[in-house]
Amino acid sequence: MKRVVVWMFSLTLVISVSSQVFHWGPCPTPLVQPNFELNRYLGKWYEIEKLPATYEKGTCIETNYSLRPDKTIRVVYVRTRKGKVRTAEGTAIVQNQREPAKLGVSFSYFTPYSPHWVLSTDYDSVALLYSCTEVLRLFHVDYAWILSRSRSLPPETIYHAKEVFSRDNIDVSRMVPTDQHGCEGGA
Ligand SMILES: *[C@@H]1O[C@H](CO)[C@@H](O)[C@H](O)[C@H]1NC(C)=O
Repeated sequence: MKRVVVWMFSLTLVISVSSQVFHWGPCPTPLVQPNFELNRYLGKWYEIEKLPATYEKGTCIETNYSLRPDKTIRVVYVRTRKGKVRTAEGTAIVQNQREPAKLGVSFSYFTPYSPHWVLSTDYDSVALLYSCTEVLRLFHVDYAWILSRSRSLPPETIYHAKEVFSRDNIDVSRMVPTDQHGCEGGA
């Protein structure tokens, strides 16, 4: 009986997240950027590809990270949807000083910080981000982003980025490019 209830519950969740990316089992445990330097990571990043997230539809998506006086990180997320520029402001924190590449991000006072891990970055051209949330250790929902300091990246850089994700058992098969054409200040 209990098993049936759990099964029904997870089926419901599966249906409700089916437009996102879910996988059975716990989250993968990818390596993150060693000796992560937050100060070099700050500033503007353009989204090149991502594992789809329903709340992130739109084009010309960019994120600007800056430090607030209280040392929290201001995250300004900008996208264009249906001809309108929409901006969301959130907060990122380093949750554990011993693992500085594992940021947590929240876009509302009421929502908990969700993982925002920098798996790899060279700070001045590309950054790979990953977020994974487990549900009852039965399955997980994950997100991944390839970010760039410019509105495009060479195909080989994207290929290599996907290799890094795959190495950590992150399924890149459903990654989709973000349209960065016809955006303000860009090609
Ligand atoms: C990012 O945000 C900071 C703080 O608001 C601002 O000073 C800076 O100009 C922004 N950077 C870009 C590239 O928009």
